[in-house]
Amino acid sequence: MTRAAITGLGTAVGRRVVTNHDLAETLDTSDQWIVERTGIHQRRVGGSCLELGAQAARVALKQAETGAADLDLIICSTCTPDQVFPAVANRIQDELGAACGAFDLNAACSGFTYGLTLAQAQIAAGMERVLVVGVDTLSRFTDWDDRSTAILFGDGAGAVVLAPAIGADRGMLSTYMGSEGRFADLLTCDFGGCIKMDGKEVFRQAVRVMVSASQRVLADAGLSPSDVGAVIPHQANMRIIESAMKRLGIPFEKAATVLETTGNTSSASIPLAMDNAVSKGAVHDGDVVLLVGFGAGMSVAAALLRWGQ
Ligand code: ACO
Repeated sequence: MTRAAITGLGTAVGRRVVTNHDLAETLDTSDQWIVERTGIHQRRVGGSCLELGAQAARVALKQAETGAADLDLIICSTCTPDQVFPAVANRIQDELGAACGAFDLNAACSGFTYGLTLAQAQIAAGMERVLVVGVDTLSRFTDWDDRSTAILFGDGAGAVVLAPAIGADRGMLSTYMGSEGRFADLLTCDFGGCIKMDGKEVFRQAVRVMVSASQRVLADAGLSPSDVGAVIPHQANMRIIESAMKRLGIPFEKAATVLETTGNTSSASIPLAMDNAVSKGAVHDGDVVLLVGFGAGMSVAAALLRWGQ
């Protein structure tokens, strides 16, 4: 089977920096509480899904040395689209000057990894260039007077170009998409409303599903936790990442994190953490990289890939 490899990666974040100290001016909270319970120091706010998504996509296309006209498909993962319809993907397609099919998917914070899984399937079926964008503007759906949620979220985008891997052992090794709808009420946002969440229970279930999805993709690829060179988890809470890494038996140092400066950006969080890890030199050619996301739904998705083309 032809494996999809990442050939370009780009990101964008909201322009305005909102620190914990800024939030403590209007909420009954403190920098110390937020850092200890979440690991977040600041978040980025601002921009539409179209603006952030197109900005990230342009960088990814440039890095992949791919023209927009060469794209076969655009998949945009978002749970906070600018409009009910058309899809953000259609607007991004027009903004880039692409001529291919384009659609949005909503799997909350698991959406980017769901998108990679669909892109892998399309490349295995013969497509040559697929753009996957993860973008969310959660600040527009945040109740800034609710200290239990306002401290967590931010706006951002990440995009990757996928193409058939050149090396036989490079690219996507295994993928998994899961859903546990019985937990759907733990994390909701109604039309015209704001994010509502049972934080403690989301925390508990998140660790469990991240671990089981990760173990599943490792087993499917015939690999073990000790084979993993880097983990790029959804960026919701540092303590969730620490607990999942511990249960997986992978040293915490192998986990990529960016939530310290971005907060939870939902669909954008995995590509933002990936970009940060790559620019710090934490991901090397040939490394086995584990991506794992969870979110409202409760949705979960994991992908295992060997880094490089
Ligand atoms: N500042 C100060 N105190 C606070 C704050 C705050 N911002 N928020 C809550 N508290 C208080 C509570 O009122 C509570 O006080 P009490 O003991 O007097 O009742 C105390 O702190 C402890 O509250 P908990 O909710 O038990 O705190 P917890 O350690 O569970 O941390 C948190 C809360 C950070 C929300 C955590 O549960 C969490 O991260 N959960 C996962 C959330 C998540 O990942 N959501 C996103 C999913 S992805 C998606 O699809 C969008």
